[in-house]
Amino acid sequence: MMFDSNYDLKDESETLRFAESMSSHLRPGMNLYLKGELGAGKTTFVRGLLRGLGYQDKVKSPTYTLVESYSFLKFTIYHFDLYRFKSEHEWDDAGFREYFNETSICLIEWPEKAGGMLPEPDISIELSHQSFGRHLHLIGFTPIGSECLKTII
Ligand SMILES: Nc1ncnc2c1ncn2[C@@H]1O[C@H](COP(=O)(O)OP(=O)(O)O)[C@@H](O)[C@H]1O
Ligand SMILES: [Mg+2]
Repeated sequence: MMFDSNYDLKDESETLRFAESMSSHLRPGMNLYLKGELGAGKTTFVRGLLRGLGYQDKVKSPTYTLVESYSFLKFTIYHFDLYRFKSEHEWDDAGFREYFNETSICLIEWPEKAGGMLPEPDISIELSHQSFGRHLHLIGFTPIGSECLKTII
């Protein structure tokens, strides 16, 4: 673990605004885990990241499709939701390994459902309920992930 920071997000607009400000610091090849219970705000955070990158349309939760993709000029964002995985082997069966490359940014809700099959994250984004709003815990695990987090504070 190389970088660790905590924030309070008092309502949905703060979650969106925080994610929007983070979006310009993302780099192709990055891999982000989004953790937290149902309703914690993981998909909201992804919506903010995509908005910050200029995406205007609706952001669908990939709860049923497992993955949604968004193409930008220099990279593609893949947004996964593995909540429905029954076994970590579904990861390989689905061929998701190929989605991780130098021209993609992968955002993964419920990464724990794929067990040890996933690549290590550059950044972990963990959201939890608190009496007012949400608590946000960010951890940078790699130099590129830590650098990204250092620049947003
Ligand atoms: N900082 C916040 N404070 C209060 N409510 C929030 C905050 N951020 C997001 N929400 C709300 O919490 C819910 C989270 O839903 P969602 O993002 O789909 O969660 P998840 O993907 O973690 O299941 C949404 O209704 C959203 O408006
Ligand atoms: Mg979700």
